[in-house]
Amino acid sequence: MNNKSIGVFDSGLGGLTAVKQIMQELPNESIIYFGDTGRVPYGTRSRDTILKYTRGDIRFLQTFDVKVIVIACGTASSAALPMIKDEFNVPIVGVIDAAVYAAVRATRNKKIGVIGTQGTIKSGEYEKQINDYDNEMQVFSRACPLFVPLVENGHFNTPVTKLLVEEYLQEIRSEGVDTLILGCTHYPLLEKAIGEYMGEDVTLINSGAEVAKYLKKKLDSDMAHSDKTEGNRYRYYVSDDISSFEELGGIFLEREINGQVTKIDIEKY
Ligand code: DGL
Repeated sequence: MNNKSIGVFDSGLGGLTAVKQIMQELPNESIIYFGDTGRVPYGTRSRDTILKYTRGDIRFLQTFDVKVIVIACGTASSAALPMIKDEFNVPIVGVIDAAVYAAVRATRNKKIGVIGTQGTIKSGEYEKQINDYDNEMQVFSRACPLFVPLVENGHFNTPVTKLLVEEYLQEIRSEGVDTLILGCTHYPLLEKAIGEYMGEDVTLINSGAEVAKYLKKKLDSDMAHSDKTEGNRYRYYVSDDISSFEELGGIFLEREINGQVTKIDIEKY
């Protein structure tokens, strides 16, 4: 038993895709979420900047004495986690392994598409890990830099979303992939538009949801679950305007989060 909280972070709203699934899979757990809305996007930054932000985000979450930290961000998981994982005395889990594990099990024709931010695609981490499982897998990758601003502005399924989905996914679709990794945690918020474009025969892998499933297995094997059943167990922190996060985050999580979001100065960490 371990009643400490789980720390989760991302550059903005995207990590809520992991939070939503953790709430479902692990309903007794307390969650501290940090969305770095003042510095979003991470995906277009240099590796040094992503490293700096990731370290600061982890240090902030450590102030809550969390039992584990989930990097619910494909960019930080691929471009920073491999370099910094031994620097902290708290277990840290990223989204890449969990999404790859799900994708290699889902594909039947061994053709997997990967979409993510520029930082994630440039790191080559998804491709590398997929080929470590099976070097006959064909991987088709594409950075989709405009998806994150679409999500942060609430364009989940508007005409402009559909236009960009077509622009970014045309090539991957024509390669005949049967599995597509949504390698940025923001992208599941565009799942409807992406799913409709790719067609129902293509399995979409939600990296945020997959890391939550992985986390459940980890807490099972470490016997580190919480047995708290009362009180509001969720707290949210952001580094910029609270109101848009409250509004869009609440819609996505399908729960009221007004009054539970606090603004912090992340540069202090
Ligand atoms: N949601 C994050 C990711 O999974 C970050 C996107 C961004 O800030 O560019 O990559």
